[in-house]
Amino acid sequence: MLKVKDEVKKMVTFRSLNLLNSYSLMGRFDIIFCRNVLIYFAPEIKARILSQIHGALNEGGYLFLGASESLSGLNDNFNMIRCNPGIIYQKK
Ligand SMILES: C[S@@+](CC[C@H](N)C(=O)[O-])C[C@H]1O[C@@H](n2cnc3c(N)ncnc32)[C@H](O)[C@@H]1O
Repeated sequence: MLKVKDEVKKMVTFRSLNLLNSYSLMGRFDIIFCRNVLIYFAPEIKARILSQIHGALNEGGYLFLGASESLSGLNDNFNMIRCNPGIIYQKK
């Protein structure tokens, strides 16, 4: 089992966020992991969430989704980067 070292934990802040609310108090990020969450929402809500995530990323920041999720038809403001394995999205 992997365990995060205490010195790393001290650099991390844990906060909860309802994706349907404003992200303005969360700050800006280089990477956002949003794995297997968008599957719960209707396309128009997904598009709204992705727009908020886009706004919360720094220029060139990365978005990681779940393996079965895609931005296809939802948001044109990310470049898709094929990795091996998987796909990540970079803010344009
Ligand atoms: C299938 S789980 C995925 C958990 C984890 N990201 C992973 O990949 O293992 C979906 C998660 O979406 C969260 N979720 C559902 N609606 C949400 C919302 N409006 N805001 C934030 N999280 C939400 C649920 O609490 C749950 O933890």
